[in-house]
Amino acid sequence: MARNKVIGILTGGGDCPGINAVIRAVAKTAIHDHGWQVIGFRDGYAGLVLRQSVDLTNEKVSNILSLGGTILGTSNKADPFRWAESIDGKLTFFDRSKEALAYCEDLELSALVCVGGDGTLSIAKRLSDLGLPIVGIPKTIDNDLSGTDVTFGHDSAVATATDAIDKLHTTAQSHHRAMVIEVMGRYAGWLALSSGLAGGGDIILIPEIPYHVEKVCQTVRHRASRGKLFSIIVVAEGAEPVGGKKVIQQMVPDSPDPVRLGGIGKVVGNEIEKKTGIETRVTVLGHVQRGGSPTAFDRILATKYGVGAIDLIEQGRFSEMVSWQNGQITSVPVSEAVGKLKLVPPDCELVGTARSVGAIFGDGD
Ligand code: F6P
Repeated sequence: MARNKVIGILTGGGDCPGINAVIRAVAKTAIHDHGWQVIGFRDGYAGLVLRQSVDLTNEKVSNILSLGGTILGTSNKADPFRWAESIDGKLTFFDRSKEALAYCEDLELSALVCVGGDGTLSIAKRLSDLGLPIVGIPKTIDNDLSGTDVTFGHDSAVATATDAIDKLHTTAQSHHRAMVIEVMGRYAGWLALSSGLAGGGDIILIPEIPYHVEKVCQTVRHRASRGKLFSIIVVAEGAEPVGGKKVIQQMVPDSPDPVRLGGIGKVVGNEIEKKTGIETRVTVLGHVQRGGSPTAFDRILATKYGVGAIDLIEQGRFSEMVSWQNGQITSVPVSEAVGKLKLVPPDCELVGTARSVGAIFGDGD
């Protein structure tokens, strides 16, 4: 048994349910199975640059399996290669990657486990190109990371969104209203598609299938003419009309991915009310989707990912990301996971299933 090996872990990007389950699995397996020491870095890559870390003892990772968020903190801004600082009121960027690497060297890290989505793992890849032994774990509620069938956090977000759709259903029915619910998903519509299907959405609008607003209104009208006086419309924040654009809510200049979307739900809701005369309400689910306890599926997946990451380190297989493919844990080079988002193929089985039960995507349908 290897003794006194030190490994690190950081959690980057937007939080999601299941991160603590991963931290717990990584630490417990490293400590119990191998006798290694585990260091957790605070707030994603900020902890590497600012030298902020914590010893993840067995006690520290105890009782966190069902806890939402991340006990380490996270950041979707901190990038050692593009470190933002305000100098005389002007945002200035610095390359502080050497400082990050120096901290890892001082701590005598044998490996760094990077838990995150495309942004976090792209940075991990750049650090690995500079010689840092890294292993990736795929995380995001959007499920848009390539190289894996599913990211942890997605199932929990789908459950939250589905629960919200169920609740909107009853009030929509009582008031004979059209209810629009805007869910997250900037470029990929997996969350809208799955929750829309699970919640029985009548209309599902996703970024990969641009919609005709007339088609959406026609569906609401047609339902009303058949005595269905309410409609449920699930809209991904990144959905866009044919020939139109995404609705930007805010720009975050010090973020590597500065665009924050939001507002398409309101746009769609206004059109429906104006064109059909049916009273319409809009709900933006927002960050509720990233909070709360992970589902049982996510707890198990996160635990498998954590154990899988330690297996990779033990075998000396670095620059790889643990991945879930065809119902089992495997791994892929991190380079295959980043830089190209996994979008919903418009002709995929899930879209076909939704269409079969009458859901409308607002395209030719
Ligand atoms: O990538 C995950 C995600 O939740 C997106 O779905 C969403 O657009 C974005 O993060 C929101 O980021 P922020 O936490 O900066 O508002």
